[in-house]
Amino acid sequence: MTKPRVYITRKIPEEAVKIVRDAAEVRNWEREDIPVPRETLLREVPRLDGLLSLLTDRVDDELMDLAPDLKIVSNLAVGFDNIDVPAATRRRIVVTNTPDVLTETVADFAFCLLLAAGRRLVAGDAYVRAGKWKTWALMLLAGQDLYGATLGLIGLGRIGSAVARRAKGFEMRVIYYDPYRREDIEKQLGIEYREMNEVLREADFISVHVPLMESTRHLISHDQFRLMKKTAVFVNTSRGPVVDQRALAEALQARQIFAAGIDVFEKEPVPDDEPLLKLDNVVVAPHIASASVPTRVRMATLAAENLVAVLQGKRPPNPVNPEVLER
Ligand code: GLV
Repeated sequence: MTKPRVYITRKIPEEAVKIVRDAAEVRNWEREDIPVPRETLLREVPRLDGLLSLLTDRVDDELMDLAPDLKIVSNLAVGFDNIDVPAATRRRIVVTNTPDVLTETVADFAFCLLLAAGRRLVAGDAYVRAGKWKTWALMLLAGQDLYGATLGLIGLGRIGSAVARRAKGFEMRVIYYDPYRREDIEKQLGIEYREMNEVLREADFISVHVPLMESTRHLISHDQFRLMKKTAVFVNTSRGPVVDQRALAEALQARQIFAAGIDVFEKEPVPDDEPLLKLDNVVVAPHIASASVPTRVRMATLAAENLVAVLQGKRPPNPVNPEVLER
């Protein structure tokens, strides 16, 4: 029997490739550092039964029109805003993602940014390296305390809840907004629900944990920054377009908020002339919230498992459009 044909859009850990290779004929883009060019990907897809994609690959009508035999797009990420899921569903193509395995790792990194931005860690590092540290001074690089402060979460899904659990260890009060109120988690963790504007007004630290959808695009913009405290620290590890980046830069520049920690951007990689990069009250990272070695390997193997399950006619662990599986 001929094996199904699969394309993997990046160099990924060998243990993940092996899972796919045992079940399929595999071709892959060999580079780890740059995404497959669009033309190359479009040349590959006509022959494919399965595609293992990354968040840097746009999977849209144009691509799927070229792939009559495509059965599965397995995205190596929890977010899947790079995929036109309704367009896949119309063609009965299964889409899968990699939730759960990265929850704690991303929550760790959100906390890392809350601490780094609140306590001005990166500005301090730059200060020492630049030879500016001449004496101890009382208010030198003084920041904001996490301990005892109020953390406001926008989004209380798996990752938001994991951040809330960490906050309890810092004796923070936690308030949250989510379109789906979770009274079970409120009771379990001792956290409180608020309307979104109340979260923005009351919180000392704000962390965003929502998927990118039309309803969350620029969810945080000028009006939302205006509601925040002057001492507020704002963190985004979700998706760049959830935040109006120009509004964020203006709020930071005007000292309308105290600081920000940003892992995701409206345009990635960030252009050199991005205004945020000129500010000393923002800590930036290159979309690495889930990037611990074990978690990235686990994400890759889970993406492989999702892909192979569908090719073998089984239910994948993480379908995004499960209606396609109900035949
Ligand atoms: C990373 O951003 C992911 O969605 O997994």
